[in-house]
Amino acid sequence: MGFHLLLFLVLCALPGIFSKESEDVTVIVRGSATLAKTDDHFVCATLDWWPPEKCNYDQCPWGQSSILNLDLTHPFLAKAIQAFNPLRVRVGGSLQDQVVYGVPNFGGQCLPIEKMAGGLFGFSKGCLSMARWDELNLLFQKTGAIVTFGLNALNGRHHIRNGVWGGDWNSSNARAFIEYTISKGYPVDSWEFGNELSGRGVAASVSVEQYGKDLVQLKAIIDELYNDSRSKPQLVAPGGFFNQPWYAHLLQLSGSGVLNAMSHHIYNLGAGNDPHITSKITDPQYLSRVADTFRSLQLTIKNHGPWASAWVSEAGGAYNSGSRLVSSTFLNSFWYLDQLGIASKYNTKVYCRQTLIGGNYGLLDTKTFVPNPDYYGALLWNRLMGNGVLSIDLSGSPYLRAYAHCRRRKQAGVSLLLINLSKSTEFTVTVRNDINVNLAEGGGIQRDGPFVHGLKKTVSWVGRRASDESEMREEYHLTAKDGNHLGRTVLLNGTPLELTEDGDIPPLNPVSIASNSPITIAPLSIAFVVFPKFEARACV
Ligand SMILES: *[C@@H]1O[C@H](CO)[C@@H](O)[C@H](O)[C@H]1NC(C)=O
Ligand SMILES: *[C@@H]1O[C@H](CO)[C@@H](O)[C@H](O)[C@H]1NC(C)=O
Ligand SMILES: *[C@@H]1O[C@H](CO)[C@@H](O)[C@H](O)[C@H]1NC(C)=O
Repeated sequence: MGFHLLLFLVLCALPGIFSKESEDVTVIVRGSATLAKTDDHFVCATLDWWPPEKCNYDQCPWGQSSILNLDLTHPFLAKAIQAFNPLRVRVGGSLQDQVVYGVPNFGGQCLPIEKMAGGLFGFSKGCLSMARWDELNLLFQKTGAIVTFGLNALNGRHHIRNGVWGGDWNSSNARAFIEYTISKGYPVDSWEFGNELSGRGVAASVSVEQYGKDLVQLKAIIDELYNDSRSKPQLVAPGGFFNQPWYAHLLQLSGSGVLNAMSHHIYNLGAGNDPHITSKITDPQYLSRVADTFRSLQLTIKNHGPWASAWVSEAGGAYNSGSRLVSSTFLNSFWYLDQLGIASKYNTKVYCRQTLIGGNYGLLDTKTFVPNPDYYGALLWNRLMGNGVLSIDLSGSPYLRAYAHCRRRKQAGVSLLLINLSKSTEFTVTVRNDINVNLAEGGGIQRDGPFVHGLKKTVSWVGRRASDESEMREEYHLTAKDGNHLGRTVLLNGTPLELTEDGDIPPLNPVSIASNSPITIAPLSIAFVVFPKFEARACV
């Protein structure tokens, strides 16, 4: 006997001021099976190498936020990372393929990255000293960060023509770096190989034949150096823009079990100076387009390398350091949280936001280290959305986006992320669970049919019985301060989220509401809603 647990959200658009029309939206969340699973450490943010001289569109938004010069002792930084308990941090970015490691037997001088005409991205090679690596690890250990480190995959190669690089990868410096890391007991969770060298590359590319061969070599080094298999890091690659034939080929050429995660980068909002970013972010069709990439990668892995999982190892929305007007504002959360939802549905295990700090798109402000609105969105996601992803059927207004996950950390119940992209219509959401409605699997939910209208008249259900007044759900509503979506302050349930006087992350408190009352989501706002009593068999 199939035990189908469905959650119904009947969303009724209340008549707008200028309209007498009302609209019903139905969301069905299936609680009986998970659609996908994310990693326990899904939320990730990057630290990049860009020096202060990195500029785009006549501005230089990186300041002192490079891996090589960031103030690692800033109290806001540690507190911001710690609050995730834990946050995954990816160390990498465009310049990683020009970084050498100042290991004990490193012959030359360990010099910083500098501006250099003719260099890749206009910069020279640079060096990560082991003293700096020690300091970074001190921060990571103090804050409990899970570390993904992007290795230089151009070392030893030479430029052949038109940005194509050839020759074997010289692994000796990377090997010595991994040895040093092991000798110090630094728990790197995963090593990523190269940055944006796949397909046609960005500044440089490497043929897939060569890349596959080098990946096998790196795997052998990891296997050899981490002979204690319990703590063996994952191997992640290629960290580029998805290119189906190239990605499929990499899996085939490297072979079974070599690659643990196929990583890709996403910048689907366009260039940082694109004047249409705000309209893209509030356009549901535009936001959904990226699903094609996720779907294709999922299929590629299924067909060519089922041993691997999918990661987004870098995504910043707008490329070239982000958008000065949008990336650090509340409006950006509509892009970011929606994309976390889409990525999860397609079985993406890890999603690394560009950046934790640096550029216009930092979760933290580059100068002040104060959290931007997306920081709080990421933190709420991390605390509430568990790794079991539940399938949703959504009909009605495309301006309401909905994602459902099991609750975090094996707590019973379900968490929903509801995003209202509409600028003018307010919806009322009624939550239903049809456990006692005998619906055949795949059975037709008729929009606007008598069934849905019938539901609207009944009491609320979150399990096998009607919920009573005492059953509560938790709501976290994110809205713009003073209605300014391009502002840097986000309100949680009406209160501005700001660091405390001691620089601590403020508590993120929900409002408790009787489960059987409707949910109202304001125009252009985001809500996480947790149903602790919701019976979902997939979530226990
Ligand atoms: C790789 O690099 C190391 C250190 O720079 C060098 O000593 C060695 O000769 C190189 N190996 C090859 C095969 O080029
Ligand atoms: C791993 O290899 C090293 C050196 O070959 C050896 O000293 C060490 O005992 C090995 N560790 C394990 C857990 O096998
Ligand atoms: C979304 O916002 C519009 C107003 O812009 C509102 O009418 C609608 O009810 C909201 N949707 C939900 C689900 O609350």
